[in-house]
Amino acid sequence: MSLCVVVLAAGKGTRMRSSLPKVLHPMAGRPMLDHVLGTAQELGAVANHVVYGFGGDQVQAAMAHRDVHWHEQAEQLGTGHAVMQAIDEIADDAHVLILYGDVPLLKATTLQALADLGGDDGLAVLTVMAADPTGYGRIVRDGQNQVLAIVEHKDATDAQREIREVNTGVMAARGHHLRGWLNRLDNDNQQNEYYLTDIVALAVADGVPVRAHVAEHEAETMGVNDKVHLAEVEAEHRRRTADALMRDGVTLIDPSRIDVRGSLTCGEDVVIDVNAVFIGEVRLGDGVHIGPNNVVIDSEIEDGTVLHANNVIEKSHLGPNCQIGPYARVRPETYLGSQVKLGNFVEVKKSNIAKGSKVNHLTYVGDATLGESVNVGAGTVTCNYDGANKHHTHLGDRVFIGSGTMLVAPVDVGEGATIGAGSVISKAAPAEKLTVSRSKQVTVDGWKRPVKNAKS
Ligand code: UD1
Ligand code: CA
Repeated sequence: MSLCVVVLAAGKGTRMRSSLPKVLHPMAGRPMLDHVLGTAQELGAVANHVVYGFGGDQVQAAMAHRDVHWHEQAEQLGTGHAVMQAIDEIADDAHVLILYGDVPLLKATTLQALADLGGDDGLAVLTVMAADPTGYGRIVRDGQNQVLAIVEHKDATDAQREIREVNTGVMAARGHHLRGWLNRLDNDNQQNEYYLTDIVALAVADGVPVRAHVAEHEAETMGVNDKVHLAEVEAEHRRRTADALMRDGVTLIDPSRIDVRGSLTCGEDVVIDVNAVFIGEVRLGDGVHIGPNNVVIDSEIEDGTVLHANNVIEKSHLGPNCQIGPYARVRPETYLGSQVKLGNFVEVKKSNIAKGSKVNHLTYVGDATLGESVNVGAGTVTCNYDGANKHHTHLGDRVFIGSGTMLVAPVDVGEGATIGAGSVISKAAPAEKLTVSRSKQVTVDGWKRPVKNAKS
């Protein structure tokens, strides 16, 4: 069955108290609407229709990477009116799934089950047993437990308000059925809105089978109206992600303190300490240990590597058995071989550092290639920028750079060379020799420290 998805996203989201359209507020680093469209893609939807109201340009720009048919709903006259905006572009025989742009946690498996329940002939409604049904549309059933209607909270009788089964908003039906029912909607209700929910009673009147699928967990169907709800869906997403990681064998020191904003793939025996943030696509090999407060963005970290506390690693590849930090910053296009050590307050950018090399303290390595077993002393800087262009630094295998050295690129230090501390190296330094550029130390005899003048 090929599905056509209609996402309602025209609500203003007043309670978010934000200039950003509601559906663009991020959950796990991506707009809520993008999660919904991602789920539609998982379902293999053949068309995505999005009904928008406010900030159309902004919403469309944010979804530029998705294939979407956009429909403006200039005035928000209700959920039924919202679907009317898209219905002209939907074929009679299409299997249509209606979703909300502010309900980001629904799983593809749940939606597939609902679409299957709707089948070729029926109307399917996703419901849930609410702990507190206040505000939601109630599912009214007859003595045989058949769904008869959805009654909105504001229109419900006291008896109906006792019903705990509520409408999540998700529905599935064929295009021709929807078209027929939408044509017959009116706004004769407490809110003077065209309620999509009224199609249930119309289907019953038409003898079209109405089937409800009761979602297992209320959390999955949670919608976002304010920042408290947004934090709740974020927390639920975090729980899901953490549970999946732990079931895959990852040790999380505190599952409530990990954020995965993208995808995280882990080998065996990975340990992740508190407050780790993974952004984009991150892969961790076997035995990787992530210390507290690390941010890792679009990177791969090979087996046995340890990130001590407080590092930021971005778009880089760290080889096996490296030791990083605390407080290292690894910027894009850094490639570390095996057993490399980067210590505290070390910044590396667009560089290759080969096996066993150490850059332990207070150093900048940018646009550089370091061979194997290089030792870079504290306070070394690759001076890679002349104010106009970037230049390369090359250090051969076994090079030893004394502390406080300025390597003025482009520059080449030959294999096994030693550079004396405090040197400024702007010409090639030959292999296996000591090169030092440093003014001679002098001692001035008879010099006296100044003393303060006596107060007049
Ligand atoms: C709706 C349902 C209610 C259900 C609840 C679940 C109707 C009449 N009621 O309530 O049964 O329990 O959702 O959360 O359908 N939207 C538009 N255009 C509009 C109105 C709404 O695009 O004119 C969108 C909103 O952006 C939102 C969704 O539809 O994504 C639901 O709207 P909202 O106002 O939150 O729900 P209710 O109508 O209160
Ligand atoms: Ca809502």
